[in-house]
Amino acid sequence: MTKRRASTPFSAILTARLARRDFLKGGLATAMAAALPSVGCTTAPTAGPVPIAFTAIPPSTDDAVKIAPEYEATVFFRWGDPVGIPGNMPAFKSDGSNTAPEQEAQAGMHHDGMWYFPLPYGAETSVHGLLAMNHEYLDDGLLHPDGRKTWNAEKLRKSQAAVGVSVIEVRADGGRWQVVRPSRYARRITARTPCAIAGPAAAADAMKTAFDPTGREVLGTYNGCANGWTPWGTYLTCEENWNFFFVRAGAVTPELQRYGVGKSRGYGWELHDERFDAAKHPNEPNRFGWIVEIDPYDPSSKPVKRTAMGRMKHEGACPAIGADRRLAFYMGDDEAFEYIYKFVTLRPWDPGRRDANRELLDEGTLYVAKFNADGTGEWLALEHGRNGLTAANGFASQADVLVKTRQAADRAGATPMDRAEWCAVHPVTREVYVTLTNSTERGAQGRPGPDAANPRANNVFGHILRWREDGDDVAAARFRWDLFALAGVPENPDPAKRGRFRGDAFGCPDGLWFDRRGVLWVQTDISSTGLNRGDYAPLGNNQVLAADPATAVFKRFLVGPRGCELTGFTMTPDGRTAFVNIQHPGELGGDLNDPDAPRKNSNWPDFDPNGRPRSATVVIRKKDGGVIGA
Ligand code: FEO
Ligand code: CA
Ligand code: CA
Repeated sequence: MTKRRASTPFSAILTARLARRDFLKGGLATAMAAALPSVGCTTAPTAGPVPIAFTAIPPSTDDAVKIAPEYEATVFFRWGDPVGIPGNMPAFKSDGSNTAPEQEAQAGMHHDGMWYFPLPYGAETSVHGLLAMNHEYLDDGLLHPDGRKTWNAEKLRKSQAAVGVSVIEVRADGGRWQVVRPSRYARRITARTPCAIAGPAAAADAMKTAFDPTGREVLGTYNGCANGWTPWGTYLTCEENWNFFFVRAGAVTPELQRYGVGKSRGYGWELHDERFDAAKHPNEPNRFGWIVEIDPYDPSSKPVKRTAMGRMKHEGACPAIGADRRLAFYMGDDEAFEYIYKFVTLRPWDPGRRDANRELLDEGTLYVAKFNADGTGEWLALEHGRNGLTAANGFASQADVLVKTRQAADRAGATPMDRAEWCAVHPVTREVYVTLTNSTERGAQGRPGPDAANPRANNVFGHILRWREDGDDVAAARFRWDLFALAGVPENPDPAKRGRFRGDAFGCPDGLWFDRRGVLWVQTDISSTGLNRGDYAPLGNNQVLAADPATAVFKRFLVGPRGCELTGFTMTPDGRTAFVNIQHPGELGGDLNDPDAPRKNSNWPDFDPNGRPRSATVVIRKKDGGVIGA
């Protein structure tokens, strides 16, 4: 078991062994604990250098996917491709004229976090599985033939169908992957799909609305960013910039202001779905900003918003499994000066009975991180009655603490970070890495200045930080941390922007994932307003790099087409296929493409003279069929 653990994907072991007798007896978590290094500090990972053998590639500004020469990248699943619902597989229309009901059966826009679940459940299959993925947000300039002109209820319905989650069945035949259509697993979850509300905030007054006086059901999940998974085979999508779809005219309450509600980005949802008018329905915003658990193996299952895990602009819920089979989930809140959290389940997960874990995420303790300058850190419990979270200080109950997670973290004294994005747990050392994508507000007038964990003012390139729990216990109250890498461009005239890393330059790290060998895969998201300009110009388009945790050497593996970000990375258990998501090709200089010139910035991946750019999943294979990165 111990030996196997060192050479098998962490996720693969967990998803593959659920039904195995040996697993039930000894427990993977126990074996993992036994294999942990007994000594070592956070600055010296004991995994050692990991060979990364591909030929690194230079930056590119081409409208194309560039990849290391030993590899091939194949476009696989694009916005508008049918997911494969039996009897309902409408073809994509390249002029944007698909109807709303058609979009409800097709891939959404803006592919983001993604996870591979082997089929059948409990197997260790690398040629047949399910892919669950987020469709984070949307671009009305591409979604409709004339963009937001003539806005109407049909367009609203199509917009709400273009976000959410897809579940597709995928199969490889001789190394060539295809989406299985039709498939009984094929599913779309949209901004209108009924979702249950569970955990301590369920049925609280703050969760009740005119449409749902019970406070137990909400229509939809959207703006799912990054992801998580559980060892019982469920997918976690993480509601991030949900606030931009709400409108709140007039004075905004402090509660709404703390979450940025009121500053709509002009999506117009409130015009034909009054839930998104927070003046009329002040509690509707409270029903977004949660981690949502989805069972990809059961297309009839209802997604569940797990309120125990807190409400924020979620970016990921990366699991770590403790020796006692309790789980920790590490979560970023992606906004300047927001925080890093962990949620620890009260109970251990049960590998023997899948259904026994159904409510596991409803009970536990939510913590927020405080990073001390001496390299230590503390997890501050966001529990009613602790850390100042009392009625006298404005927190009436645990439900109140959770609905107002950000305010609770303020009160507890957490460390404001430079936009925490994805977390990833090293498969051997158990260190947790987190991307801090950037914060140009750090050190600005009236804003917090640099600190040990966020050491640069005007942090345009971002950094990657890591920590190790005391005693390697996922439930520990303390940890030790250090800075893994400062992103930057060594040729920049400003020494503060040159970074601290080895190998290939990068900026704005966002997606983060460890493979079974301990290679850290990093995806970048230089924003559409900065990409290819100024400080960022030498880096070209957004990209994927592989990094060695032992040496902080980065190698550029893949560069995306113009205007995209790279986000979403997962592999099959054998490590021979990777799925990578390319989000929003063509988004340059702003958030919305021009419907009168949809191909102005990009026409990837179809290069249809009458088409438009499309977010897409790309399949990565090594040309010799070998393990990716090795
Ligand atoms: Fe959706 Fe924080 O990236
Ligand atoms: Ca992200
Ligand atoms: Ca980002």
